[in-house]
Amino acid sequence: MKKAKVTVVGAGFVGATTAQRIAEKDLADVVLIDVVEGLAEGKALDIQQSASAEGFDARIVGTQDYALTERSDVIVITAGLARKPGMSRDDLLFKNAEIVSQVTDQCARRSPESLLLIVTNPLDVMTQLAWKRSGFENRRVFGMAGVLDSVRYGYFIARELGISVRDVRAMVLGGHGDSMVPLPRYSTVNGIPLETLVPAEKIEAINHKTRNGGAEIVNLLKTGSAFYAPSSSACAMVEAILRDSGRILPCSVYLEGQYGLSGVYCGVPVKLGRQGVLEVLELPLTGPESEALRRSSEEVSRNAGKLAAAGFLN
Ligand code: APR
Repeated sequence: MKKAKVTVVGAGFVGATTAQRIAEKDLADVVLIDVVEGLAEGKALDIQQSASAEGFDARIVGTQDYALTERSDVIVITAGLARKPGMSRDDLLFKNAEIVSQVTDQCARRSPESLLLIVTNPLDVMTQLAWKRSGFENRRVFGMAGVLDSVRYGYFIARELGISVRDVRAMVLGGHGDSMVPLPRYSTVNGIPLETLVPAEKIEAINHKTRNGGAEIVNLLKTGSAFYAPSSSACAMVEAILRDSGRILPCSVYLEGQYGLSGVYCGVPVKLGRQGVLEVLELPLTGPESEALRRSSEEVSRNAGKLAAAGFLN
């Protein structure tokens, strides 16, 4: 069987760790690319040299040259600036829009059949931008953050209950920002509704911790943002795609009427496989849940409006 090829753009903390996780799971050969001379080459060599210790056969090359990314199956875009303390994800908007536009142009024409998985923040609107720039069908362009928000939620639930994370199914919808929408009603412990196990005020505290999960890490790191859980989440999506597993994962996808939302990228559960987004799952929501999702999507639309006004989404 032909080995899959994944390009990871951006060899910083998130990109290099994503490349490492993909290689260690032997999911694909990996091309790691960055604008900074030597950075991707150095990190790729280092990861490659761990192969016999880790026991993987995947090949990983680092480069500044987009020619090496040709005919990738999946392109993971992590290039951009990371948040600094006190900086919101939206502060990054224009700078990262420039970077994501350039990178998408470079990648899309060399890998016209690929899937684009966007990780750069502010996530949902960067995904919308990459979709527009690439000209790809929307099922082939999606963003990572729902998996990250949900694994954080799952971890906090497991810790609250003192149980294994393996038994927790946690669901977070909405944009990847302060308005994300944790859904306790659709979160369970081995099928047991969370709300029967944890009192409402504790659930609210866990929801808050989840929304604040990224910021808490930024405040501690001071010079960067989270990368272990983000790279795990991106790798889980790459795995679902390359194994064509049909896993149901919350991802940022283009909505066309689902959940009453249209023309905007937002986090909802989807079935993910080799062709990208195979299906958007529409969970029945209560009035307040729908309202929270609508508010979250409005934040994304506002950013999309700012980008459109600056000529990025034309
Ligand atoms: N092309 C390729 N790489 C680029 C470009 C570009 N045009 N512009 C910047 N980069 C690279 C940088 O050189 C850097 O190595 O992107 C990398 C970003 O890495 P870090 O600064 O370490 O940031 P990281 O923590 O990896 O976060 C990357 O993911 O989670 C999000 O908010 C985060 O938007 C940020 C992104």
